[in-house]
Amino acid sequence: MGFLYRKLVRRLLFNLNPELVHDAVMKAARGAQSVPLVNALVGLMANPRSIPVTVAGIKFRNPVGLAAGFDKNCEAARFLAGLGFGFLELGTVTLRPQPGNPKPRLFRIRESKAIINRMGFNNVGAWQAARSLERLMPVPVPVGISVGKNADCSIEDAPKNYLETLKIMYPFGDYFAVNVSSPNTLQLRSLHAGERLRRLVEPMLDFASGQKRVKPFFVKIAPDLEQSELEAAVELSAEMGFGLIATNTTVSRASVPERWRTYEGGLSGRPLRQLSNEVLARTAALAKGRVPIMGSGGIFDGESALEKLRLGADLVQVYSGLVYEGPFLVKEILDYLYRFGWHPARR
Ligand SMILES: Cc1cc2nc3c(=O)[nH]c(=O)nc-3n(C[C@H](O)[C@H](O)[C@H](O)COP(=O)(O)O)c2cc1C
Repeated sequence: MGFLYRKLVRRLLFNLNPELVHDAVMKAARGAQSVPLVNALVGLMANPRSIPVTVAGIKFRNPVGLAAGFDKNCEAARFLAGLGFGFLELGTVTLRPQPGNPKPRLFRIRESKAIINRMGFNNVGAWQAARSLERLMPVPVPVGISVGKNADCSIEDAPKNYLETLKIMYPFGDYFAVNVSSPNTLQLRSLHAGERLRRLVEPMLDFASGQKRVKPFFVKIAPDLEQSELEAAVELSAEMGFGLIATNTTVSRASVPERWRTYEGGLSGRPLRQLSNEVLARTAALAKGRVPIMGSGGIFDGESALEKLRLGADLVQVYSGLVYEGPFLVKEILDYLYRFGWHPARR
């Protein structure tokens, strides 16, 4: 199946505008998930291996998830779950709807199996995302919801903006990802800084602790942090009790061909693999098992997924790999992990 995608479907799709293709895929997924027979067929074809893991108190059927940004509006969770994922991270959702950055804002670097995006949190806003997700409940796998801030909200007002979004989305997520690492929202990454991060996360944790079901949080970090910033983030996570997602896209262009270096945005895919792995390994070494960690960046096959699990990730997430290798990548990764006999105790 993966072979068919690479030889046929990808060739066709890659002749078209990347954002147009993504929108069409999401539209098809939305339509398909409302037809039970199609859902059942997709599920049958994906037929995911069972590799159960429990992380942050949540039971996952396998450790391979969809990374944030693919389903920004939380509208295709049922279809996406059918592809075999162990969990889905939806969003990034902001409080109010916003159009994102001007187009073009999504680019494929085919020769490097990479993507540059400067989407800028284009999304329908928390209320509509919540309504869409409510209609799809129950989703058969755990759902994480990534929250971010509106572009017109200042850094000083960010804690309130994130908290309001969280309050709307809270009933629909099993965990929440706090996105402070997108390079496409002005100054967003400054929220990594120790005290700022504390002021951002504290109200959200307080809110969650007052709810009937206390749900876990993860902060998604950038791969471009200085060691001291990473140390501060890890210490804060251990102190406050949230997990980490390493990593988001990079602003570095060191490993892409010259002509792409002036393109602004976040780089993902193959060239991110090594950098995000280095940050993941450093994060795991600093965390010393005190907090759960997810790995994201450059997973294209079973081997690159296993690599992250061995470096200390409890769960992994995929985005660019899906674009280049197709939807059956999830099955391919799970088959590989299964054959390898992956078990969390076998790190
Ligand atoms: C087009 C695109 C949009 C993205 N949007 C988001 C987003 O809204 N929130 C987020 O946390 N990460 C976002 N990401 C980052 C991915 O979730 C992922 O962390 C990153 O792409 C690295 O993984 P990959 O190499 O498997 O793509 C986006 C990535 C891409 C390619």
